[in-house]
Amino acid sequence: VDLSALRANARRLADEAAPAGVLAVIKADAYGHGAMACARALAPLVWGFAVSLVEEAVELRRGGIDRPVIVLGGVYGRSHQDIVAYGITPVVSEEEDLRRFARAADELNAGRLGVHVKIDTGMSRLGVRPERLGALLDAARAIPGIEITGLATHLAEADGEDEVPTREQLARFAAARALVVERGFRPSLLHVANTAGALRFPEARFDLVRPGLALFGGLPSPSVRLADGAGDGLRPVMRLRTRIVALRDVPAGAGVSYGAAFRASRSSRIATVPIGYADGYTRRLSGRAEVLVGGRRCPVAGNVTKDMTMIDVTEQPEARPGDEVVLLGQQGDACISVDELAGWAGTIAYEIYCGVSKRVPRVYRSEASVDVR
Ligand SMILES: Cc1ncc(COP(=O)(O)O)c(C=O)c1O
Repeated sequence: VDLSALRANARRLADEAAPAGVLAVIKADAYGHGAMACARALAPLVWGFAVSLVEEAVELRRGGIDRPVIVLGGVYGRSHQDIVAYGITPVVSEEEDLRRFARAADELNAGRLGVHVKIDTGMSRLGVRPERLGALLDAARAIPGIEITGLATHLAEADGEDEVPTREQLARFAAARALVVERGFRPSLLHVANTAGALRFPEARFDLVRPGLALFGGLPSPSVRLADGAGDGLRPVMRLRTRIVALRDVPAGAGVSYGAAFRASRSSRIATVPIGYADGYTRRLSGRAEVLVGGRRCPVAGNVTKDMTMIDVTEQPEARPGDEVVLLGQQGDACISVDELAGWAGTIAYEIYCGVSKRVPRVYRSEASVDVR
């Protein structure tokens, strides 16, 4: 995990979004990159952090992060007191949560709690529907312990070719904002834009942009690009590598892995690497993906197993046990991009990153240091 690349990407996004601040989305363990390490690296560069779960927010606070932390997920269960105690900002769309937060703030003698209200402008996932917003605001006015400090929504199609659905969402957000102001609230933090929204719709930037993927060097679709002529592109942060642990020559006709889905069509050299679907190298990569050995592309042979994957290194005769194998990222001049890997697996970059499982050690590099979690 290249923390220098992470910081460079954050600076790049901050420049592009300014004067809006960056609310860095580091949920799901910073998209698999490691939330604490990423938060520490980003803290001096961003306005604050957004996560999905209360537990993720508490982890940041316990790890010493003192920037604003916003919980996007909207599921608070019995965690209302934790939100107050740890100085976390919840995103709310239910009256009942407003009441519970007010009670928790009162019990902890914490003064008024700032909350952000989420509007469902078209994602149909979380947020108060526009037709129910008036009732939520009336309820909020009657609850003295809370203050609406922010207003948010989430874009469903900002990475799509058609800009119309996003413009419609932004129009619904504008109407919701007008109603909020009309009812006497003055939220000072408006945030709407994920990576695609931030880069493609300048009018969606408001006070804070909420990128996740771009921080890690990804872009959600070919429609989403950085502004031309404004410095370098984004740098990939994650590189996934392993080493050859076994090597064998097999005759033509030999089967490789479960089900012998790969059968050698010639005498072949097969390398085994200790990474499999339990590490997040999904079984859907079986027989489709390529990896880098000695700077050259070599195909995955047969089915990925739980802990091991076999590689056909016949075209790479210098390969030896212990040699580095890169499954994602750069090796020499060659590179396997996250979009390529996602394409082979029939998924998106997000799932590749988030899928790298806990048992894969994260090794953190920045300009001058290497650190293992
Ligand atoms: C509410 C919300 N905002 C922002 C983001 C960041 O999106 P992206 O990673 O596309 O920038 C997400 C990601 O899932 C999200 O759920």
